[in-house]
This record gives sequence, C-alpha cells and structure tokens, in this order.
Amino acid sequence: MEDLDAEVSFSALREWLASIESRFSIEIDDCRQGAFENALTGYSESLGESLKTLLSRAKSGLLDSEHWSMILHLATNHETRFFRSPAAIQQIVQICKNISHPKILSVGCSTGEEPYSIAAALYAAGHNTFDIHGTDISALCIKTAKLGIYRQHPNISSLVACPLPEQRMRFHPWVKGLVKFEQHNILQDRPVQLLKPNVVITQNMLIYYREETRYEILNRLASMLAVGGYLITAPAETLGWRTPAMTRVQNSQINVFVRSS
Ligand SMILES: C[S@@+](CC[C@H](N)C(=O)[O-])C[C@H]1O[C@@H](n2cnc3c(N)ncnc32)[C@H](O)[C@@H]1O
Repeated sequence: MEDLDAEVSFSALREWLASIESRFSIEIDDCRQGAFENALTGYSESLGESLKTLLSRAKSGLLDSEHWSMILHLATNHETRFFRSPAAIQQIVQICKNISHPKILSVGCSTGEEPYSIAAALYAAGHNTFDIHGTDISALCIKTAKLGIYRQHPNISSLVACPLPEQRMRFHPWVKGLVKFEQHNILQDRPVQLLKPNVVITQNMLIYYREETRYEILNRLASMLAVGGYLITAPAETLGWRTPAMTRVQNSQINVFVRSS
C-alpha cells in the first residue's frame, strides 16, 4: 500500500514538473525536485488537498492566478542578500565611472537586495541619478522588493535607508524612485521595461537551468545591450557560452562580457 502511495505521488510530481515547465518555461533541476515536492505538498495541504487532487484542480482550470503565482514561487529558489558579490558591485561601479546616468538591469533579482546594493554603491561612488531595474519571475519576490523594507545591514547607510524599529530599515522614497521592479520571466518574449541598459547582471539564476536554456537566456541578455554594454554573471554560470557579439573582459572572480558588435 505504501509503495502504491509513493508511486501515485511520484507520478503526480512528474506531472506537476511537466505542467510548470510548459506553463512558465522554467525547468526544475533534479537536485531541487525534492525541495519542490515538499513545498508543494505543504501548500496543497494548506488548501485541504494532496499533490494529486491539487493537480486535478489545476488540470480542470480551477486554480486562479494567485494559486499559480504561489506554485511558481515554490518552484524556484530565492536566496539572496545585500552585497552578495562584492566583485560584481565593484565591477559595476567601475563600468559606470564615466556614465552620467547609468542604467542597470538585474535579472532574477529575487526580493531586491541585489538592485538596492548596486544603488547604494553607485550613490556612495558619487552618482545622484541612475536607473536600476530589477526583474524576477516571482510576483511575491517583486512585491517584497517594491516595499523596500529589510533587516538593517552594515553596508546600507542611513543616507539611502532610514532605520525602523526592531533592526529594520526602509529605503528612502528617492532611492525607491531610482530602483524599479517588474515581475518578468526572462524566457518569455515580453520586453523588459528598461531599454538599452549599460549593464545587465544576472547572478545565481542561470544555475537552475540546463545548458541549452542558459545559452538561450544569455543570448537574450546580450541582445538587450547596446554596443559597449556589459553582461555580468556569477562564476561558472556561463559554462562554454560564446557569441561573436560579446568579448570576455578579464576578471578572476566573476564573468564579465562587453558587447563589441
Ligand atoms: C537564487 S535567486 C538569486 C537572487 C540574486 N540575483 C542573488 O544573486 O542574490 C534566483 C532568482 O531567479 C528567479 N528566476 C528564476 N527563473 C527566472 C526567470 N526565468 N526569469 C526571471 N527570474 C527568474 C527566481 O525567482 C529567484 O528569485
């Protein structure tokens, strides 16, 4: 009997994975499938369902956009933190040195710590104006990012965020005016609401995709840049990706490419 239950649940999981892949064009790597199964089982139970009965509701078109938004959120990993990659932030500050109004796109920004870290670093480097645009497939993450309220962080000064009770902080309205967020799936064809950024950064998102999908995403990101624009990823994320339009820039800690044609 237990074997039968396990088999039913395994086949429901397979169907969930296929359904999510076709609905959102995302892939859940083998190593994340167990975590997704646990999270989805918990969510199903919170709705009084099992994996299998929730799947039936999904197949009958009985799940609304909020259900799907939560399922998508559970399917992806959102770990992030302020100044997670100092090398990437330094590189962006360096690239923007002689640009009067830099435009930075952060793809897969999760709850917003990466775009706000870039804003804090650019401001500290003397930029009073810039556009930073964070996108993420998860509507829940984008909602948190737009709020701009976090636990205080030693590298985020009161010049850009005001302290709140209980060790929290809120980014000032003028900073929030320069750092915008958009729910967006980079694998879908809708254009991002920031045209011709000087820098596109994507870190710790590509690792969740198979090689051919990573290359597709990287090609899309490269095509968003004007000649002279930069693409930055975390180490080891680009695998063997190459395109004649992009030239690698020497950096021992992160991947940096410049659009050369
Ligand atoms: C681990 S977080 C990385 C956050 C941040 N870039 C960092 O390095 O700290 C990966 C984020 O990528 C987002 N993501 C995954 N697939 C995506 C896609 N196709 N389009 C946009 N965002 C995506 C996830 O929702 C998640 O919030």
